[in-house]
Amino acid sequence: MENETKLAAGAMVALGVATAALVVLPYLQVSDVPAPAKLRPYTASQLRGRAVYVANGCVYCHSQQPRDRALAPDAQRGWGRASVPGDYVYDKPHLLGSMRTGPDLFNIGARQPSKEWQLGHLYQPRAYVKESIMPSYPFLFTVKDAGEAQREGEQPLALPPGFAPAEGQVVVPTPEALDLVKYLQALDHTYPVLPAAPQP
Ligand code: HEC
Repeated sequence: MENETKLAAGAMVALGVATAALVVLPYLQVSDVPAPAKLRPYTASQLRGRAVYVANGCVYCHSQQPRDRALAPDAQRGWGRASVPGDYVYDKPHLLGSMRTGPDLFNIGARQPSKEWQLGHLYQPRAYVKESIMPSYPFLFTVKDAGEAQREGEQPLALPPGFAPAEGQVVVPTPEALDLVKYLQALDHTYPVLPAAPQP
């Protein structure tokens, strides 16, 4: 019996130490980090777009955590400076991601601010990047009669030649697609977080 008690006590201690080191300490470390001055909270439509991002599993292929120069050439890839805890103050939960089947999107709003491009790329990635393996999201769009779209005051996509629907038909974004693009455009963390280097 004595051995069982020791075993159980040992297991509890190991679990307690691990929880403290991996959960409690990191939480205390970052729980009161202030937001960088230039970081804006998400608007209502950006938050809805963020929910579309989560629902469609974008996080399974895209990270949102550019790494330090010493660890990876993320800066050379054009993904921006290494992120800091403050960058994620308004992200609950954060969408760090662990896979990079596609590029890191933490600064996609700065890298590709065009609404037109973002919408078209979601409708059909291969219309813009020939060998793209990103899935298309046709269900975030409706194909309708050109006249009808015009009467309803909707702005159809200007797709590259060869990707437009049949004659007389146009592709219009759903509110979900528009919100998602607002969210992507808000992913811009290019503001400086370190004090400027002293001038010589
Ligand atoms: C199966 C993996 C996969 C999924 C899921 C995925 N993507 Fe992608 N994504 C890629 C790949 C690969 C690329 C690079 C080729 C390209 O631009 O199409 C890419 C490129 C992009 C780009 C352009 C990045 C740049 O630097 O030019 C954006 C924006 C993007 N994806 C957004 C999304 C969004 C939003 C979703 C969810 C609705 C999503 N992706 C889902 C794989 C994926």
